[in-house]
Amino acid sequence: MILRSVSKNIHMSIIPRLSMRISSQMTEAINNQIAYEASAVHAYIAIGSWCERTGYDGSAAFFFEQANEEHSHMLKFIHYLNNSGVEPIIPAIDKPQANFDSLESTFQAGLKSEQTVTGLINNLVEIAENEKDRATYSFLQWFVSEQMEEETLFETILQKFDIVGRDKLALYQIDQSLTTIRSKVMTMGNDQQEPTAN
Ligand SMILES: [Fe+2]
Repeated sequence: MILRSVSKNIHMSIIPRLSMRISSQMTEAINNQIAYEASAVHAYIAIGSWCERTGYDGSAAFFFEQANEEHSHMLKFIHYLNNSGVEPIIPAIDKPQANFDSLESTFQAGLKSEQTVTGLINNLVEIAENEKDRATYSFLQWFVSEQMEEETLFETILQKFDIVGRDKLALYQIDQSLTTIRSKVMTMGNDQQEPTAN
Protein backbone atom coordinates (compact mmCIF):
# COMPACT_ATOMS: atom_id res chain seq x y z
CA MET A 1 0.00 0.00 0.00
CA ILE A 2 2.83 2.32 0.93
CA LEU A 3 4.76 1.24 -2.15
CA ARG A 4 1.77 1.89 -4.36
CA SER A 5 1.30 5.41 -3.03
CA VAL A 6 5.02 6.11 -3.40
CA SER A 7 5.07 4.91 -7.03
CA LYS A 8 1.91 6.90 -7.70
CA ASN A 9 3.62 10.01 -6.36
CA ILE A 10 6.70 9.34 -8.50
CA HIS A 11 4.50 8.87 -11.56
CA MET A 12 2.60 12.07 -10.82
CA SER A 13 5.85 14.00 -10.45
CA ILE A 14 6.85 13.15 -14.07
CA ILE A 15 5.13 15.95 -15.86
CA PRO A 16 6.06 17.52 -19.19
CA ARG A 17 8.67 20.24 -18.74
CA LEU A 18 7.16 22.55 -21.33
CA SER A 19 3.67 23.53 -22.41
CA MET A 20 2.59 22.56 -25.94
CA ARG A 21 3.66 25.25 -28.37
CA ILE A 22 2.66 23.80 -31.74
CA SER A 23 -0.68 22.66 -33.18
CA SER A 24 -1.79 19.04 -33.44
CA GLN A 25 -1.70 19.32 -37.25
CA MET A 26 1.92 20.50 -37.14
CA THR A 27 2.79 17.79 -34.61
CA GLU A 28 1.37 15.11 -36.91
CA ALA A 29 3.18 16.53 -39.95
CA ILE A 30 6.53 16.68 -38.11
CA ASN A 31 6.05 13.13 -36.81
CA ASN A 32 5.48 12.03 -40.43
CA GLN A 33 8.72 13.82 -41.30
CA ILE A 34 10.56 11.99 -38.50
CA ALA A 35 9.25 8.71 -39.95
CA TYR A 36 10.44 9.65 -43.45
CA GLU A 37 13.89 10.76 -42.25
CA ALA A 38 14.22 7.49 -40.31
CA SER A 39 13.30 5.45 -43.40
CA ALA A 40 15.81 7.49 -45.44
CA VAL A 41 18.57 6.54 -42.97
CA HIS A 42 18.01 2.83 -43.65
CA ALA A 43 17.40 3.33 -47.37
CA TYR A 44 20.81 5.02 -47.71
CA ILE A 45 22.52 2.40 -45.55
CA ALA A 46 21.04 -0.30 -47.81
CA ILE A 47 22.30 1.50 -50.92
CA GLY A 48 25.72 1.99 -49.32
CA SER A 49 25.80 -1.69 -48.44
CA TRP A 50 24.99 -2.68 -52.07
CA CYS A 51 27.75 -0.34 -53.30
CA GLU A 52 30.23 -1.79 -50.82
CA ARG A 53 29.63 -5.40 -51.84
CA THR A 54 29.63 -4.44 -55.54
CA GLY A 55 33.04 -2.79 -55.27
CA TYR A 56 32.01 0.86 -55.54
CA ASP A 57 33.89 2.03 -52.44
CA GLY A 58 33.54 5.76 -53.11
CA SER A 59 29.78 5.45 -53.54
CA ALA A 60 29.51 3.28 -50.42
CA ALA A 61 31.23 6.00 -48.37
CA PHE A 62 28.99 8.62 -50.02
CA PHE A 63 25.74 6.83 -49.13
CA PHE A 64 26.85 5.99 -45.58
CA GLU A 65 27.56 9.71 -45.14
CA GLN A 66 24.07 10.48 -46.56
CA ALA A 67 22.63 8.10 -43.95
CA ASN A 68 24.45 10.03 -41.20
CA GLU A 69 22.97 13.26 -42.52
CA GLU A 70 19.43 11.85 -42.54
CA HIS A 71 19.97 10.63 -39.00
CA SER A 72 20.95 14.15 -37.92
CA HIS A 73 17.85 15.56 -39.69
CA MET A 74 15.64 13.10 -37.82
CA LEU A 75 17.22 14.16 -34.51
CA LYS A 76 16.68 17.85 -35.31
CA PHE A 77 12.94 17.20 -35.66
CA ILE A 78 12.87 15.03 -32.53
CA HIS A 79 14.63 17.78 -30.51
CA TYR A 80 12.24 20.36 -31.95
CA LEU A 81 9.14 18.45 -30.81
CA ASN A 82 10.62 17.76 -27.37
CA ASN A 83 11.49 21.43 -26.99
CA SER A 84 8.00 22.39 -28.12
CA GLY A 85 6.38 20.35 -25.34
CA VAL A 86 5.22 17.58 -27.69
CA GLU A 87 6.15 13.89 -27.61
CA PRO A 88 7.84 12.75 -30.83
CA ILE A 89 6.93 9.32 -32.22
CA ILE A 90 10.00 7.16 -32.85
CA PRO A 91 8.86 4.97 -35.75
CA ALA A 92 9.32 1.36 -36.82
CA ILE A 93 11.09 1.15 -40.17
CA ASP A 94 10.16 -1.01 -43.18
CA LYS A 95 12.91 -3.04 -44.87
CA PRO A 96 14.40 -0.88 -47.63
CA GLN A 97 15.31 -1.85 -51.20
CA ALA A 98 18.50 -3.93 -51.02
CA ASN A 99 19.46 -4.55 -54.67
CA PHE A 100 19.98 -2.20 -57.60
CA ASP A 101 20.40 -2.58 -61.37
CA SER A 102 23.35 -0.22 -61.70
CA LEU A 103 25.40 2.43 -59.91
CA GLU A 104 23.42 5.11 -61.76
CA SER A 105 20.12 3.72 -60.46
CA THR A 106 21.30 4.18 -56.85
CA PHE A 107 21.75 7.91 -57.45
CA GLN A 108 18.40 8.06 -59.26
CA ALA A 109 16.82 6.49 -56.16
CA GLY A 110 18.62 9.08 -54.02
CA LEU A 111 17.38 12.00 -56.14
CA LYS A 112 13.82 10.68 -56.05
CA SER A 113 13.96 10.42 -52.26
CA GLU A 114 15.36 13.95 -51.91
CA GLN A 115 12.62 15.31 -54.19
CA THR A 116 10.04 13.62 -51.94
CA VAL A 117 11.65 15.23 -48.87
CA THR A 118 11.62 18.66 -50.54
CA GLY A 119 7.87 18.24 -51.13
CA LEU A 120 7.35 17.23 -47.49
CA ILE A 121 9.40 20.19 -46.18
CA ASN A 122 7.47 22.59 -48.43
CA ASN A 123 4.26 21.14 -47.02
CA LEU A 124 5.51 21.77 -43.45
CA VAL A 125 6.39 25.36 -44.39
CA GLU A 126 2.89 25.81 -45.83
CA ILE A 127 1.29 24.57 -42.60
CA ALA A 128 3.50 26.97 -40.59
CA GLU A 129 2.48 29.86 -42.85
CA ASN A 130 -1.23 29.02 -42.62
CA GLU A 131 -1.03 28.73 -38.82
CA LYS A 132 1.18 31.83 -38.47
CA ASP A 133 3.55 29.55 -36.53
CA ARG A 134 6.64 31.74 -36.85
CA ALA A 135 8.90 29.62 -34.63
CA THR A 136 8.36 26.50 -36.74
CA TYR A 137 8.61 28.52 -39.96
CA SER A 138 11.99 29.83 -38.84
CA PHE A 139 13.14 26.34 -37.73
CA LEU A 140 12.23 24.95 -41.18
CA GLN A 141 14.31 27.44 -43.18
CA TRP A 142 17.50 25.42 -42.59
CA PHE A 143 15.78 22.39 -44.15
CA VAL A 144 14.65 24.44 -47.17
CA SER A 145 18.30 25.34 -47.93
CA GLU A 146 19.46 21.83 -47.12
CA GLN A 147 17.04 20.31 -49.65
CA MET A 148 18.20 22.66 -52.41
CA GLU A 149 21.73 21.45 -51.72
CA GLU A 150 20.75 17.76 -51.63
CA GLU A 151 18.89 17.92 -54.96
CA THR A 152 21.78 19.82 -56.57
CA LEU A 153 24.21 17.20 -55.28
CA PHE A 154 22.32 14.23 -56.77
CA GLU A 155 21.61 16.04 -60.05
CA THR A 156 25.30 16.97 -60.38
CA ILE A 157 26.35 13.35 -59.85
CA LEU A 158 23.74 12.02 -62.30
CA GLN A 159 24.94 14.51 -64.91
CA LYS A 160 28.40 12.93 -64.66
CA PHE A 161 27.04 9.67 -66.10
CA ASP A 162 26.01 11.60 -69.24
CA ILE A 163 29.34 13.44 -69.43
CA VAL A 164 31.87 10.76 -68.46
CA GLY A 165 29.90 7.72 -69.64
CA ARG A 166 28.72 4.38 -68.32
CA ASP A 167 31.53 2.00 -69.22
CA LYS A 168 33.63 0.39 -66.50
CA LEU A 169 36.33 3.07 -66.48
CA ALA A 170 33.76 5.89 -66.40
CA LEU A 171 31.94 4.28 -63.45
CA TYR A 172 35.25 3.91 -61.64
CA GLN A 173 36.07 7.59 -62.23
CA ILE A 174 32.62 8.73 -61.02
CA ASP A 175 32.90 6.47 -57.98
CA GLN A 176 36.26 8.02 -57.10
CA SER A 177 35.13 11.63 -57.64
CA LEU A 178 32.17 11.75 -55.23
CA THR A 179 34.00 13.35 -52.30
CA THR A 180 35.16 16.18 -54.57
CA ILE A 181 31.67 16.66 -56.03
CA ARG A 182 30.11 16.76 -52.55
CA SER A 183 32.56 19.37 -51.25
CA LYS A 184 32.10 21.53 -54.39
CA VAL A 185 28.30 21.50 -54.05
CA MET A 186 28.53 22.23 -50.32
CA THR A 187 30.89 25.16 -50.94
CA MET A 188 28.44 26.57 -53.50
CA GLY A 189 25.61 26.22 -50.97
CA ASN A 190 27.63 28.03 -48.27
CA ASP A 191 28.46 30.84 -50.71
CA GLN A 192 24.76 31.31 -51.44
CA GLN A 193 23.77 31.28 -47.77
CA GLU A 194 26.39 33.73 -46.53
CA PRO A 195 26.10 37.18 -48.12
CA THR A 196 29.45 38.66 -49.04
CA ALA A 197 30.36 42.08 -47.63
CA ASN A 198 31.23 44.63 -50.33
FE1 LIG B 1 16.78 14.59 -44.65
